[in-house]
Amino acid sequence: MDEIKLSKMYMNQDIKNAVLEVLDSGYYVKGPNLRHFEESFRDYIGSKYAIGVSSGTAALFLTYQELNLNPGDEVIVPSHTFIATATPLAYFKVKPVFVDIDPETYCMDIEKVKSEITPKTKCIVPVHIYGHPVDMDPLLEIAEEKSIKIIEDCCQAHGAEYKEKKVGKLGDIGVFSFFPSKNMTVGGDGGMIVTNNEKYGEELKLRRDHGRKSKYENELLGLNFRLNEIQAVIGKEQLKYLDEWIEKRREIVNFYNEIIEKYPNVKIPSEKEWAKCSYYVYTIQIEKRSSFIEHFNKKKIATGIYYPIPVHRQPIIQKLYGIQPKLGVTEEIVDKIVSLPLSPQLINEELDRIKVAINEYMEDL
Ligand SMILES: Cc1ncc(COP(=O)(O)O)c(C=O)c1O
Repeated sequence: MDEIKLSKMYMNQDIKNAVLEVLDSGYYVKGPNLRHFEESFRDYIGSKYAIGVSSGTAALFLTYQELNLNPGDEVIVPSHTFIATATPLAYFKVKPVFVDIDPETYCMDIEKVKSEITPKTKCIVPVHIYGHPVDMDPLLEIAEEKSIKIIEDCCQAHGAEYKEKKVGKLGDIGVFSFFPSKNMTVGGDGGMIVTNNEKYGEELKLRRDHGRKSKYENELLGLNFRLNEIQAVIGKEQLKYLDEWIEKRREIVNFYNEIIEKYPNVKIPSEKEWAKCSYYVYTIQIEKRSSFIEHFNKKKIATGIYYPIPVHRQPIIQKLYGIQPKLGVTEEIVDKIVSLPLSPQLINEELDRIKVAINEYMEDL
């Protein structure tokens, strides 16, 4: 019996042929595939700019650099996220201020954000965690009133919608990751920055390539954070399937919800009426998580924990910024959350195996 993995990467013959064409072309960086991928991603999101970069982390690093933050400035981030939302700030001597989450959506709690704003707050980073969009309108209102920038971390939310608008273009800048487990990938590491702001768009294009305007003329401070042609061509091909894959993910989520909702001791994901989730992962909360995981291990079904240590509790964060204040909801859910396999490539036989495993475990409780 094969293991059912948490996520599966999709590669068909068209994608493989496109990669071979790139290999034969001799253009491996800064070629037409990057341009085409950026154009199609920009059109998909509906933003003015899309800039391909080497990872989601690179996208965040460049974005924080572009904002011209000064040492001592503060940026409000959730703690319930992947650490890369916060760590690039340390390179600019900027302080991340961690806020708690809403227990229903797992996204940053807007009321908590409001209470953390100080004259030093320069930016807020809503993370659309698990593919559920953050409630953006109140955040955008605060931002406008106080001249604070909004950077959307969309690394888990390709194609997710807030009030029928794609996430990424709602704030000042949006960042995406194409790490292999994401809703779409580039067959390795990759990322994208999107914005409607002309200055940011033009400057970020230069910054990801040594800040150069032409081959030997460097106008801005930048590094090499380019996205390769092979990754770009895979991304361009994968983007064609993204909407179809999101629908499939949503069907699987409904399938899981119908099985699990009858068990009162388990919390299933919720979707706000203004949200269309893209479901990067399917996360439930369960009291006796370790025995649940053990049961799934025995059945050769993978499970994941996103994330077992909240960012404000990470040793490097405490070393850099000292012991952080307690975040009640984040610290409560961290021992209960567990994610089940979710990918549009899951076949019916695998879904049935997962259904049987869930029912067996719950009925034995
Ligand atoms: C919320 C979030 N932010 C940032 C990143 C960093 O992206 P990458 O792994 O492409 O550097 C990830 C990726 O896992 C993520 O999930």
